[in-house]
Amino acid sequence: MLEQINLLREKGQSELKALTSTAELPDWYHQYLGRKGDLTSFLKQLGTLSAEERPAVGKIINEIKQEFQQSFDLRQESLRERKLHEELEIDDLDVTLPGRPCTTGHLHLTTQTLRRIYQIFQEMGFQVYDAPEVESDEYNFQLLNIPEYHPARDMWDTFWVDDEVVLRTHTSPGQIWAMREYYPEPIRVILPGKCYRYEQITPRSEHQFYQVEGLTIGKNIRLTDLIGVMSEFAHKMYGAERKVRIRGSYFPFTEPSIEIDMSCSCVDKAGSGSAGCRLCKYTGWLEVAGAGMVHPVVLRNGGYDPEEWSGFAFGMGVERPALLKHNIDDIRYFYGNDLRFLQQF
Ligand code: FA5
Repeated sequence: MLEQINLLREKGQSELKALTSTAELPDWYHQYLGRKGDLTSFLKQLGTLSAEERPAVGKIINEIKQEFQQSFDLRQESLRERKLHEELEIDDLDVTLPGRPCTTGHLHLTTQTLRRIYQIFQEMGFQVYDAPEVESDEYNFQLLNIPEYHPARDMWDTFWVDDEVVLRTHTSPGQIWAMREYYPEPIRVILPGKCYRYEQITPRSEHQFYQVEGLTIGKNIRLTDLIGVMSEFAHKMYGAERKVRIRGSYFPFTEPSIEIDMSCSCVDKAGSGSAGCRLCKYTGWLEVAGAGMVHPVVLRNGGYDPEEWSGFAFGMGVERPALLKHNIDDIRYFYGNDLRFLQQF
């Protein structure tokens, strides 16, 4: 029986080598490795051997089975490759090859955040208004009740283009543009856009960042309307679990003025009042917006009579809310162009 098995081994290998196309492979497989193939029939005959012979012969049959399987796989691979080459020679476009995947990008986290902010304010009846990024001293400061040499100018470190032209330090000059365009209609707009400040870059401050300004002008608008709108925004943006804090503040273009803070994500993560991260300077609170009732001087500069009209305004950062929402601890990641950061959102 051993002799027959060895003959089968040689015959199988030489027949496999002689195959010239993949179409012949299945027949060879059935004959040698199939359930009714030659090797299986030898295995079935093991019972006719003596108990001493059986293990050695069984072992050889299994070895040959493995050897056949490996040779078959290799032959199959090489015949397939040969077929592909032949086809490519006839026709150099192979439509069966997998295509190169296209890498698709997605919106930057800032744009995603802006769009979410638009959506929330749109639901409250606000329109989006575009105002210039390069401003005059007059619009960026003077018409907002900040005359030349006024100490409040120190609140906004400025990139001057020349003595008259500045990169806007905040979106507030857009208030004047909107008022002068809408007068004498009531107004309910948000003004998004880039702002620039000549200031030190830190985990919470960039020299270029986005703000969204809000402005409403109408009859009998009050501070409680402002607080209502901002609380609604905060809860829609961050969820009801985040806390909102209102502090008295000072801006030359609002009276009274307030500052709106949101509880920092480090407090929420800890699930307690304990504060501790460098983003919130270990206070547990992060300032997200300045706001207040539009100052009478500003109303007048926009064309509205403060005896008849009132309104509120707010200006919030965009990156800082995104930091809060996604528990990011450093604003510098936003424009660092590191794909490992950007691809997470
Ligand atoms: C202002 O810019 C006022 N114009 C806001 C305002 C508008 C007040 C209307 C009243 C009425 P402030 O300098 O605090 O205020 O900036 C507002 C928000 O912009 C901050 O709360 C913060 O979220 C964001 N912000 C300010 N500076 C930076 C910076 N360097 N990097 C990133 N975000 C900043």
